[in-house]
Amino acid sequence: MPEFQTTPGTRDILPPDARRWRSFVDVFAGVVESAGYEQIILPMFEDLGVFQRLGDATDVVTKEMYDFVDKGGRHIALRPEQTAGVCRSFVQHHPVVPWKVWYAGPNFRYEKAQQGRYRQFDQVGVEVLGIDDPQLDVEVISLAQTFFDSLGLRNVTLHINSLGDTGDRARYVEALAAYFRAHEVELSQESRVTLGRNPLRVLDSKRAEDADVIAQAPSISEFFSPQAAQHFAAVQEGLALLNIDFVVNDRLVRGLDYYRSTTFEFVSTALDAAQTAVGGGGRYDGLVEDLGGESTPGIGFAIGLDRTLLACDAEGVFAAPDSGADVFVVDTTGGRAALRLAADLRTAGLHAQRAYGAKSMKSQMKTANKSRAVVAVIIGEDELARGVATVRPMDGGEQSEYPLDQVVATVVDIVKKAR
Ligand code: HAM
Repeated sequence: MPEFQTTPGTRDILPPDARRWRSFVDVFAGVVESAGYEQIILPMFEDLGVFQRLGDATDVVTKEMYDFVDKGGRHIALRPEQTAGVCRSFVQHHPVVPWKVWYAGPNFRYEKAQQGRYRQFDQVGVEVLGIDDPQLDVEVISLAQTFFDSLGLRNVTLHINSLGDTGDRARYVEALAAYFRAHEVELSQESRVTLGRNPLRVLDSKRAEDADVIAQAPSISEFFSPQAAQHFAAVQEGLALLNIDFVVNDRLVRGLDYYRSTTFEFVSTALDAAQTAVGGGGRYDGLVEDLGGESTPGIGFAIGLDRTLLACDAEGVFAAPDSGADVFVVDTTGGRAALRLAADLRTAGLHAQRAYGAKSMKSQMKTANKSRAVVAVIIGEDELARGVATVRPMDGGEQSEYPLDQVVATVVDIVKKAR
């Protein structure tokens, strides 16, 4: 055992997985940029207060925050998510609305580490500030759906709910608390504790002994104002218009306190671990105000990169993209010719590799095969003396000699035809 290893809940993302991660973000960027979202890059740590706005009854804030006092005496926290940072940034820079941004990057939560649940995990996501139109909710949800489709995932189910407006939500929480208190003896010990802190979260319990009480609990839909009901109906209508399948799940409450109105979650049915939510989001009208800005409607989602890739593994889709070389330079004259030629081939835009350490022709050809290059360029003593190189297609095609100054153009041509 080496003395140092990754600490619990963190992992090294090695090649070729790291290439797959980057490609994941590229696909996401392609989807959301086609709808006019622009990338934002936020700090990974902020004033703790920014994240305390996520709610003093949420585990993310009370139990899982990586917070510390820095050398300047500031109380800082590593970001547990990026919605709060986006809203803080919005208040700080007051951009023109609607503000449509996307992000990617790591987040930190001190959770019990297990398969699909890490202490450092990556998300991609979007946020839109300044628009309160149910058609935007549909657009946002559809972007997430399009992204899952682009990865090739087939077994992802969309759950949607509405938490009503602020007043509806408050009245519902009150009614729910009264209901659970009346049935407290039937609840599990854990849910009784949750009830004291956040009655909504009792709905999230997966414990068998809670199932009956939860099944009979009042539904948020009974508390919708006419506007909230209308908004939710319009969202469902829009999703149907786009042929996006969904399940209305009135027990979906999400883990952060800022949600109002439309909420949603994407669940992978291909994952059998406890962690099956591959993404989620919703409206959070109120968060910008909480962070010192003017009342501004907001909506967004985040998709868990680590967990979504586990779902891709389970479905056998979205493998790491190919990393095969275009060309491999074999030089048995000491390597100086390869040094120059490889540099020139790379300048011409090709993925060029070579061997090092004056290896034999046979050993270099072996490495060339492993590199999966389309073509090998071979320079031996004889070629060097005549100022030529042998260009050999790796698929067994006929090889030819070219003057050194024509090699790059010739190889570019061959690779272009092969790709
Ligand atoms: P969230 O549901 O906390 O929402 O996280 C979104 C996704 O991140 C989850 O569905 C899951 O895939 C992934 N995730 C969360 N925690 C972990 C973890 N410990 N390990 C691995 N993956 C994890 C949010 O973060 C909100 N900011 C989403 C949002 C954006 N709402 C509005 N705008």
